[in-house]
Amino acid sequence: MNIVVGVTGGIAAYKAVGVVRFLVRAGHHVQVIATEHALRFVGAPTWEAISRNPLGADLYTDVSEVRHVALGQRADLVIIAPATANTLAKLAAGIADDLLGNTVLATRAPVLLAPAMHTEMWENAATRANLATLRGRGFHVVGPAVGQLTGTDSGAGRLSEPEEIVAAGLALVQSARDLAGRRILITAGGTREPLDPVRYLGNRSSGKQGIALAEAACARGAEVSLIAASVDEALPTHVRSRSVGTAAELAEAVHEELPATEIVIMAAAVADYRPVRVSETKIKKEDRGDTLTLELEKNPDILASLPPLATPGQIIVGFAAETARDRAHLLELGRAKLARKDCDYLCLNVVGWSDGFGADHNTVIMIDRAGEIRAEATGSKREVADAILDVLLAHPRPTP
Ligand code: CTP
Repeated sequence: MNIVVGVTGGIAAYKAVGVVRFLVRAGHHVQVIATEHALRFVGAPTWEAISRNPLGADLYTDVSEVRHVALGQRADLVIIAPATANTLAKLAAGIADDLLGNTVLATRAPVLLAPAMHTEMWENAATRANLATLRGRGFHVVGPAVGQLTGTDSGAGRLSEPEEIVAAGLALVQSARDLAGRRILITAGGTREPLDPVRYLGNRSSGKQGIALAEAACARGAEVSLIAASVDEALPTHVRSRSVGTAAELAEAVHEELPATEIVIMAAAVADYRPVRVSETKIKKEDRGDTLTLELEKNPDILASLPPLATPGQIIVGFAAETARDRAHLLELGRAKLARKDCDYLCLNVVGWSDGFGADHNTVIMIDRAGEIRAEATGSKREVADAILDVLLAHPRPTP
């Protein structure tokens, strides 16, 4: 798992070394992000040696890799230990003036806070309010323990023990790893059919829904293989992926991976037709006159080719991009398409000049073989992805 450990400026930072050590020993990839104040307590060489990774400290290092969001996007879990009163206040306000603040805003992974501070600060109304805000937003909290504090005082505010923090963090992720051991093949993006060396016939699919499905399945423990057809944005580095261009290349890749897959999700928009002839040289206006007629031939239907090849227990899921606005009409088109393709589920997606493609949000109605609605989801593409995966998780599995 990719785990970010955020360390903030308190004396208890020295105990966070134990948290990192436990996680690394358990086989996790740990990225430590220390704030400037944390480094006054425990220095960079310690974090790098214990985590076996370069330290994340500065917002302006590795900017070309868009690190301020990449670390959060890649994380399966974020643990902040110790979380000082100042850090809680900054997180509650959504302040992102350092690498840790950016990472927390950019992550969709569970975030566990392990507060540590003096009792008066812990009991202060501002801290209580900040914590209530963070809890309300889904942050998780472990501790603090009651005991000896830094000075001669003792009370509530002592950082929980490293073992306890690690156990609380892993429990958050493991409870969500409901697809552990399931093998899922996901296609994303839109195929491009070349006309000549500089032009192609394509579609407006951005690949975002397919990528969100791959990331969600991966975070839930599945073994994911992503086949990306002309996806412009960066592919998630923690998901096994390959890129293809044409429908024929996509078909070849899907058929190659089918035998080792339990669930196939065809989220890619596949070109239905390709040019009969691909010009070896650039098509020139002078040679063609005022109009140009392209002769196209049908591409094979990849989704429809899968059910006859599928072995018992394999689940085949298609997507259907439709411009029908009327719900009854949309469902009618979807049921007919599902019957034509003979797949197990079809996710109906309304697209239009300004809907669906490229957006960060989506609306999907998922129907099953019987034409019944199994899920209706509206939200971020990640939320829609999770709703689809919930249905697949509930799909009956053959008895071994
Ligand atoms: N699909 C495919 N191969 C094709 C065309 C589509 O595998 N040659 C898959 C898509 O990946 C998607 C589903 O079929 O999962 C439906 O795609 P869609 O474009 O909505 O449907 P079409 O079959 O192309 O029908 P039409 O364009 O006429 O609506």
